[in-house]
Amino acid sequence: MEENMNITICDNYDEMSIETAKFIINYLKNRQNPLVCFAAGDTPVSTYKCLVESARRGLVEFKGIKFVGLDEWVGMSEKDEGSCRNFLNKTLFEPLFINRSNIIFFDACSEDLEGECRKVDDYIRQNGPIDLMLIGIGVNGHIGLNEPGTPFDSCSHVVELTSLTKRVAQKYFNEKKELDKGITLGMKHVMEANCVILIASGTKKARIIKEAVEGNITNDIPASLLQLHKNCYLFLDKEAASMLNKN
Ligand code: F6R
Repeated sequence: MEENMNITICDNYDEMSIETAKFIINYLKNRQNPLVCFAAGDTPVSTYKCLVESARRGLVEFKGIKFVGLDEWVGMSEKDEGSCRNFLNKTLFEPLFINRSNIIFFDACSEDLEGECRKVDDYIRQNGPIDLMLIGIGVNGHIGLNEPGTPFDSCSHVVELTSLTKRVAQKYFNEKKELDKGITLGMKHVMEANCVILIASGTKKARIIKEAVEGNITNDIPASLLQLHKNCYLFLDKEAASMLNKN
């Protein structure tokens, strides 16, 4: 394990969410117009609730912040229940009254997905690097939708989803969805971000957390590359951390 991974192990999911939100609030405190990137998915739900509550209480200000989308299911728009953008709109952007002009996101319904990748890459090149990223981890080690095998120097790209990701992702939708491809920021964006927070909860994540943190750095497990990140923080609940040697 690389010594520069900062790992916080919390008693349970709620504590993990509170600690993550506190870290984010503290990190954003003295930054002028930061560019941030927050994942969708089940894991950050309570962290976002804490952020929204803290903003209501005046403990954090999201006004000058610009958001860049991490990923999206190809063919889905913000109107689709369960899409990444739909989730972020409901849990974060709308409750925080984020101005739409401060959100840059892939249009995963575009006929020109390569153009969407260039749009987001250009934006990050001009306004980046990303200051703060909050990411989850797939049970196969994916980050965003950087599936196993993704080159470490990738920028935004369209990806063929693995069968595991397609299966697991059904949990986000009320009815069965034919998922085929995703569009995502690349590992290069993650590695160039000034600060990356990875959160994971539950025994279902224990094995992949062990491999990502203590295993070899390999693009078979994209999250293992974080061992080389200069400023990376992991917030785990006890269950997700249960297979770590130091636990
Ligand atoms: C979602 C994303 C994915 C998820 C990961 C974990 O925007 O980028 O990489 O973070 O699949 O998902 P949950 O949190 O639902 O277990």
